[in-house]
Amino acid sequence: MGLMIFIIEHLYGNLLLFSDSQAYNLYTYNLEQMGWLLYIAEAGLALFFIYHAYLGISIYLNRKKARPKGYIKYKSQGGPSHQTISAKTMIFTGIIILIFLFLHLNTFKFGNPNMIPVPGHPGQQMQDMKSLVVNTFQSPLYTFFYAFVMILLGFHLGHGFWSAFTSLSMKHKKFSSFIYTVGAIFAVLMAVGFLFIPLFIYFTGGTTL
Ligand code: HEM
Repeated sequence: MGLMIFIIEHLYGNLLLFSDSQAYNLYTYNLEQMGWLLYIAEAGLALFFIYHAYLGISIYLNRKKARPKGYIKYKSQGGPSHQTISAKTMIFTGIIILIFLFLHLNTFKFGNPNMIPVPGHPGQQMQDMKSLVVNTFQSPLYTFFYAFVMILLGFHLGHGFWSAFTSLSMKHKKFSSFIYTVGAIFAVLMAVGFLFIPLFIYFTGGTTL
């Protein structure tokens, strides 16, 4: 749940690239101004990610142990079982997203943006994160790798959303389908939102931002 809230907040923050010319930089600057509160939030987020990856990998390994040869023909039981392609590829999409995250943090979180003056605050400086993002997505390799990962993110979230409510939804067939539909809408919105950013910048050169 914490990770889903982060994803929504992160998409909102990144869509500020399309707002006022300095809105994006001011957003990251204001986050930095939170000081130790930001460090606590980041530590919490890191723990959420680590625990989430640990759970996912353990579930996968336990399943493998229980059924080492796999199913002869993997067929959904229908209804609340929801054995869709998203469900069957969770470990694959999860590992790719994890690899993406390392690369992503290295590029943006630990990147080296230029410092520029903060509008309305003489003498203060902020990171020019917007230029870093725009310059990064001039590279076709980077852009299309991002686009590919955002599609996988959509699949991962699609099943992950429903999974987060499994104990409730497995018991009630109607509720299960409802949650699955909400999860699918959520996943498509997030994937399309995140996909749009690198592709838009790459194809327009980011000159209109
Ligand atoms: C087009 C897509 C994306 C763009 C342009 C983008 C951009 C950024 C930028 C600029 C930062 C650094 C912000 C800062 O340090 O203040 C950042 C941090 C981060 N991003 Fe993304 N991001 C994207 C997608 C994603 C996705 C899909 C995920 C997760 C699956 C993600 C996870 C993170 C995390 C965990 C951080 C570190 C947050 C923190 O420590 O405060 N990002 N991103």
